[in-house]
Amino acid sequence: MSGDIAKFNAAQAALDYVKDGMVVGLGTGSTSAHFVRQLGERVRQGLRVKGVPTSEATRNLAEQVGVPLLEISQITSLDLDVDGADEVDPAFRLIKGGGGALLREKIVAAASKQMVVIADESKWVETLGDFPLPVEVTRFGFALTQHRVTEALRASGCAGDEVVLRITGKSNEPVITDGGNYILDAHAKRIPDPEKLGAALKDIAGVVEHGLFIGLSQVVIIGKAKGAEVKTL
Ligand code: A5P
Repeated sequence: MSGDIAKFNAAQAALDYVKDGMVVGLGTGSTSAHFVRQLGERVRQGLRVKGVPTSEATRNLAEQVGVPLLEISQITSLDLDVDGADEVDPAFRLIKGGGGALLREKIVAAASKQMVVIADESKWVETLGDFPLPVEVTRFGFALTQHRVTEALRASGCAGDEVVLRITGKSNEPVITDGGNYILDAHAKRIPDPEKLGAALKDIAGVVEHGLFIGLSQVVIIGKAKGAEVKTL
C-alpha cells in the first residue's frame, strides 16, 4: 500500500510538467495509471491536452477517465512523455517493459521533447540488471533469437545469462505483445555496460526492441510516502 501512495505522489508531481495545449505520451503500468487518472481530473477541470497511449491498456484507461487521445500516426513529435520504469540508475538509464509495452513506450519516448520518469523508491538502483531485462522478439525463430540474446549477455559481461520466454499465468501460453510479438526476459543480474548490451541486442535479427532506455529521460521523479523527489541530470 505504501508503494502505491509513493506511485500516486510521483504521478502527482509529474502534473507540474504538463502545460495547456501539450501532446503528452501516456506510459503503461501502475504508476502511469495513477498519472492518467490524475490527468483525467485536470482535463475535467479545463486543461486542454492530447494524450498518446503506449498500450491498449492505457488507451482504455485514458478513454474511461476522459483524456482526449491522438493516434501515433497523427503526430511527428510529442511535447512530453510521462512513464514508469522497472529500474532507474543514477545516469537515468532505465529498464522498462515489465508490463510488456516497451516497444510502443520507446517509440513514444524517443519522439518526445522531454521524458519524465515516475517511480517509487524501490526502482532506484546503483546498477541495472536485477530486474530481468525484457526483450521483444518476433515469434518466428524466437528460440534462435533466445540463444543469441544469451550470447549477447555473456559478451557484454553480465553476471547472469538465463533468458526465458515470458508466459502468461492465466493460460500458460506465451505472452503476446500489443505488436503481436513474444517477450524474452533476460536475467542479466548485473549489467556492467548497458550501452554495450543495448547495441548488441539491437544487432540481433529477430529482436524487435529491448527494454534498456538510454539517453531518453531528463527528469526522474521518485515518489515517497509523503511527497516526491525530483531529480534532474
Ligand atoms: C510497462 O511495459 C513498463 O515499462 C512499466 O513502465 C514498468 O513496468 C513500471 O510499472 P509499474 O509502474 O507498474 O511499476
